[in-house]
Amino acid sequence: MFIVTEDVKEYRKKALEYVTEEDIVLEVGCADGVTSYLLSKKAKKVVGIDKSKEAIERALKRWKKENLEFYLMDGFDIRRILRKFGKVFTVILIDISGSRDPSDVLRLAISYEKAFNPRLIIIKNRPLKKFVEKVIYNDFKIKDINELMYYLKREWEKLNIVFKEVELVKEEYKDLWEMVLSYYNDLKYFYEKRDYVKVFELENYIWGLLDALANLKALEIPEKIKRWFKI
Ligand SMILES: C[S@@+](CC[C@H](N)C(=O)[O-])C[C@H]1O[C@@H](n2cnc3c(N)ncnc32)[C@H](O)[C@@H]1O
Repeated sequence: MFIVTEDVKEYRKKALEYVTEEDIVLEVGCADGVTSYLLSKKAKKVVGIDKSKEAIERALKRWKKENLEFYLMDGFDIRRILRKFGKVFTVILIDISGSRDPSDVLRLAISYEKAFNPRLIIIKNRPLKKFVEKVIYNDFKIKDINELMYYLKREWEKLNIVFKEVELVKEEYKDLWEMVLSYYNDLKYFYEKRDYVKVFELENYIWGLLDALANLKALEIPEKIKRWFKI
């Protein structure tokens, strides 16, 4: 699986979102090691490599952590990396300058996939991201799918707040409320499983029922989130 990002903000966000405590991470082009360090708080182990001697010296001086290592290495010398570490990496990050020719970066990413077979490769390269966004998959532009995912995650976050803050105030709608809660439990299950088609379906369903309950004045809704409801 590949994730293509366009800038450092998105690159770090995606890395932190997808890396788990079981992962052994390689960052190719770690520079001063900020991203590697952030990931070392979450992952089992992080190795940062860079071809700049000064950058690696700064990283070694700046971050001292048992599960974090830095090496002066050329990211294109995959054979050397494989010899030194073996096939251990489960996640690989590639950030050898964000505006570099996308074909170089893509070729490198494919070579890493072949050599290490990691579960995930995260790439930072703006031109490649711009290209990928225009790709059509089953009549959908990847850009539109990304947008859909953005709304899906936003609604997920809103619903988590709603179910913490909203209360049922009319007992006669208890059965309906319990049904909504049970859909919410299903939503949590499918969100965790990353089954986003089910998530999309459930979110719409839950909002419909919540709006109905709100219009029946069956819910006490704090003022600050009232605007989320169609009342
Ligand atoms: C934008 S910086 C990386 C920033 C870093 N990933 C972060 O998140 O803080 C790009 C780095 O890639 C390194 N780089 C460029 N070509 C490389 C190569 N062939 N092998 C290893 N590092 C390389 C540069 O030395 C530079 O430090």
